[in-house]
Amino acid sequence: MGSFTSFQVLLLSLALFLASCNALPQNEAAALTFFKRAIMEDPLQILSDWNYLESEPCEWSGISCSMARDHVIRLNISGQSLKGFIAPELYQLSNLQELILHENLLMGTIPKKIGKLKNLKVLDLGVNRLTGPIPPEIGNLTNLVKINLQSNGLTGRLPSELGNLKHLEEIRLDRNRLQGRLPVGNGSEFPSKVHGILSFQGNCLQDKDSKQRTTEQCGNCPCAHLKTHE
Ligand SMILES: *[C@@H]1O[C@H](CO)[C@@H](O)[C@H](O)[C@H]1NC(C)=O
Ligand SMILES: *[C@@H]1O[C@H](CO)[C@@H](O)[C@H](O)[C@H]1NC(C)=O
Ligand SMILES: *[C@@H]1O[C@H](CO)[C@@H](O)[C@H](O)[C@H]1NC(C)=O
Repeated sequence: MGSFTSFQVLLLSLALFLASCNALPQNEAAALTFFKRAIMEDPLQILSDWNYLESEPCEWSGISCSMARDHVIRLNISGQSLKGFIAPELYQLSNLQELILHENLLMGTIPKKIGKLKNLKVLDLGVNRLTGPIPPEIGNLTNLVKINLQSNGLTGRLPSELGNLKHLEEIRLDRNRLQGRLPVGNGSEFPSKVHGILSFQGNCLQDKDSKQRTTEQCGNCPCAHLKTHE
């Protein structure tokens, strides 16, 4: 009798395992687990329904899947005061088209591996507390239409690789501490296609036209720290 019960338990576990695994590839499910783990505070409990035992990931808050429900295509968690880091494992969401984490309290750097999300069209990490450079790998995301990294504590040179983004229509990088020159694409496709929705003000760029921070503000200060301790 005892062994029969444990056999039933085994069957039940297997059913749960299959139910949670047959929709999304294992690595995409794992990426979401890593994402949640890197969030330290979730005051509005937006991630409370991120639970494999209760529902499948395509049902979770902020997640949109493909029609066949076999890939995550959008992760949008905006204005939720999420505090934590951006897990580099997100790169495993290989079909992701939109990564929108606008207006949270995300810190640390933008993972280089984001440059592997080949299908990404929208990257919106604006209004967070991200520091460090914009990874040049973002220039590999040739399908990008929209980038918003405004209002963070990003430093370093603006990567010239951004000039490779031929489909870009909107770029907002204002209110950071970026340096260098505005990227100019080879063949002038960038920024001509970017119909004026291109914000760079409030940085430390060599650009006379847009409002930049003063030399004093841009001096050799540990700018990232200033931002973090606000
Ligand atoms: C992202 O989610 C917010 C609500 O959390 C919503 O207002 C916004 O329209 C969404 N953006 C996209 C592109 O789906
Ligand atoms: C992505 O970009 C980096 C830096 O720009 C480059 O070194 C690398 O070769 C690129 N990777 C691919 C797969 O294109
Ligand atoms: C710029 O474009 C021209 C042709 O349009 C090409 O021959 C050249 O290699 C390109 N340069 C770079 C740095 O990509």
